[in-house]
Amino acid sequence: MSNTVSESATLEYNGKKIVLPVVTGTEGEQAIDISSLRKSTGLVTLDPGFVNTASCYSKITYIDGENGVLRYRGYPIEELVEHGIFIDTAYLLVNGELPNDSQHREFSRLLNECSLIHEDMRHFFDSFPRGSHPMHILSTMINAMAAFYPDVDLKSLDEDINQSCARVISIVRTLAAFAYKRSIGEPIVYPRHDLSYCANFLNMMFDSPVRPYQIRPEAVRLLNVLFIIHADHEQNCSTSAVRTIGSAQVNLYATISAGISALSGPLHGGANQSVIEMLKMIHEDGDVNKFLKMAKEKDNPFRLMGFGHRVYKTYDPRAAIAKRECENYLKLIKYQDPLLDIAHRVEEAALTDSYFVDRHLYPNVDFYTGILYRAMGIPENMLTVMFAIARLPGWVAHWREMIGSSTKLVRPRQVYTGQECRHLEEDYRKVK
Ligand code: SDX
Repeated sequence: MSNTVSESATLEYNGKKIVLPVVTGTEGEQAIDISSLRKSTGLVTLDPGFVNTASCYSKITYIDGENGVLRYRGYPIEELVEHGIFIDTAYLLVNGELPNDSQHREFSRLLNECSLIHEDMRHFFDSFPRGSHPMHILSTMINAMAAFYPDVDLKSLDEDINQSCARVISIVRTLAAFAYKRSIGEPIVYPRHDLSYCANFLNMMFDSPVRPYQIRPEAVRLLNVLFIIHADHEQNCSTSAVRTIGSAQVNLYATISAGISALSGPLHGGANQSVIEMLKMIHEDGDVNKFLKMAKEKDNPFRLMGFGHRVYKTYDPRAAIAKRECENYLKLIKYQDPLLDIAHRVEEAALTDSYFVDRHLYPNVDFYTGILYRAMGIPENMLTVMFAIARLPGWVAHWREMIGSSTKLVRPRQVYTGQECRHLEEDYRKVK
């Protein structure tokens, strides 16, 4: 049973003593509940980046960063990858249990039914400049869904929340593929009712009237695995954005659009594209140690992209899966990518360098996934879009958990360090 109050912590300050409850989670992690702190002491806590702060209770995903454990609704990520069906993982995250056969069929039907975008939305694509980054297009188009599907505010959700959740999980693929086709000047390819979630996406991306796309089972399996390992990750930056925006009772689509925008940052989901750019630079230069040296220089903004994590202080279990899949898939399709060799050399050098070892900086989910997507023919500017498609069920699950609980509007406090009170007329005369 989570959030049980098991002990207490005493805070002494200015001759005052306050006893605060300590809550214990399912896996024994503990937190001091400070919700009464300001009322009883006038004090607030300060924690930039919320490094030490739990923002909520959640039953969706558990991460043990010290031991490299990741579980969705209690299932280890390795077992879900073995099971290998992304839409089952999506269903699990959103509903709390894996679907039985009839629930799987119903969810597939919903995803298929919601895979088309409103035809009027198609014309939006014509107004984006050719070179627009697909992440900007995606967040705009998902936000526009609130105009095309206006019945999605909180009041209307209880009867068709499954439909709204399925719609955004399904349509994100169509919007992503349409953005890609538009960027290469090819005609868009519509979703097909006879294809599974991942096969449909690959077909929308790569089929063409003059070059029919051959759907390969190994590519479909791999995409399921990649989407599963990206599907959720507890209170990361973009999920926290979703919970924050959603707490104001903003509709689902605008809330998800905020998550997509947060994910696009190079310190977050945008890192997978930055990793490829970095590996290409290292490949061109040839000197791995030169780049590691730059990453270690205090005043050098260069970071080893795909390395380090706020929570994992050991190898990211998703990176281990991606690395294994990378080596196997490239061998299977007989595809040589020099960037994989560079990635191996960077990892080897960093994991024997005290700077990285002392700071517990290991490969994270973004370090190998870009190479895999490249091998599947996914262009670099679509890499973070792939992350967004996969993360959709996680965002929807957290949004649904948040609106289902007695969530308060997210509105943190601050410590003000600006000007003391001063008056305009006095200063105005001085300036004059
Ligand atoms: C994702 O939160 C999630 O769960 C995110 C995610 C998800 O699934 O949602 O897992 C997805 O975003 C993965 C992370 C992708 N980002 C990158 O790969 C970008 C490179 N990584 C770094 O920018 C960094 O590691 C962060 C942002 C990921 C985490 O940084 P923190 O937790 O804020 O730690 P920090 O910046 O305070 O670093 C601590 C020390 C510092 O050195 P000192 O001041 O102690 O001397 O480690 C150093 C940092 O300079 N450091 C790095 C480094 N990452 C941290 N030095 C060189 N290269 C790096 N990559």
